[in-house]
Amino acid sequence: MVEYAIEIDRLVKKFGTLTAVNDISFKIKKGEIFGLLGPNGAGKTTTINMLLGLIKSTSGKITINGLDIKKEGERIKQLIGLMTQETVVEGDLTARQNLEIFAELYHVSPLAERNKRIAEALKEAELTDFADKKAGTFSGGMKRRLELVKSMIQHPSILILDEPTTGLDIQNRVNMWKHIRELNALGVTIILTTQYLEEADTLCDRIAIIDHGKIKAIGTVSELKKVVGTGRILELVAEDHADAAAVASMLKTVFKLKPEIKVDKVTALVEVGNEERIMTKLLAELNKKRIKVSSVSMHMPTLDDVFMTLTGSSTRDTTHEDTSSRMDAMMRGSRGGGR
Ligand SMILES: Nc1ncnc2c1ncn2[C@@H]1O[C@H](COP(=O)(O)OP(=O)(O)OP(=O)(O)O)[C@@H](O)[C@H]1O
Ligand SMILES: [Mg+2]
Repeated sequence: MVEYAIEIDRLVKKFGTLTAVNDISFKIKKGEIFGLLGPNGAGKTTTINMLLGLIKSTSGKITINGLDIKKEGERIKQLIGLMTQETVVEGDLTARQNLEIFAELYHVSPLAERNKRIAEALKEAELTDFADKKAGTFSGGMKRRLELVKSMIQHPSILILDEPTTGLDIQNRVNMWKHIRELNALGVTIILTTQYLEEADTLCDRIAIIDHGKIKAIGTVSELKKVVGTGRILELVAEDHADAAAVASMLKTVFKLKPEIKVDKVTALVEVGNEERIMTKLLAELNKKRIKVSSVSMHMPTLDDVFMTLTGSSTRDTTHEDTSSRMDAMMRGSRGGGR
């Protein structure tokens, strides 16, 4: 049996002079939830479109369940479900009719089997009571759930989700995560793209951090966190930038740490075993020097800290716009502004 659901080898996609996907290689094991994490324009959708055979690669090789997509494109289509980045449910049609169209498209038969799958899909999407209501009247979360089950109607073994939760509020995002996990528990291999660090962290077995068509890091969440080292992250929020600068300078001179400073927040990596000693001495020093801070904390490295280490900048998972623009700024920062 083939171990990998997807194997990507030296994949490149150029649009004119722009290299959207720049020589990436990775493998996705059967049964994994694999995340492609990156900001707007990173090359996530382009990679996915090549996996699906929707666009041709410039060079490189893609193998799905051991089949070369250049040779076995038609067979592969039945193996993969796709939930696109944009919601494409037909608003004038009911939830049931939307599913019927897809069942037809994928030749799900006989009729009894088709009806059974549609009923299951409606139940899975928590839309049984809304089955005969027009999809156009649905909330964003309901539409996305309908999209999700629609992409599963032919029972594919691999499901591709392109930004499944972008634009959803936190409740709907958490609900979508639950559905994704349920599908995965049934044995479906899932590849998803996301701009949300938190989403990748909670959902994915492994993550590739991608930017400007390149893979910056790849691994399990804990492997990625090792990029940061085995220590703990000390974080201080100062009252203003001047206090933050004073804190950073003290961490350097007194504690021999390498602080990063961003507006009024200072972070530094502390070796395991030194936390308590440093914390005690730090509080005394802050008091002595009368530096005002609003919070001091020590935490295990997060994916946020991985980004900080890889790019020299921080991001917080908040709203879509907020995250993407910050990630964008962050990624730009990592290139020293030369873009
Ligand atoms: N058909 C196309 N023609 C020309 N350029 C394209 C095309 N499709 C994508 N691009 C460019 O390729 C780069 C990667 O785009 P892609 O859509 O893959 O990014 P993404 O990571 O999915 O971003 P987002 O989070 O915004 O969806 C971008 O610079 C984009 O403008
Ligand atoms: Mg995209």
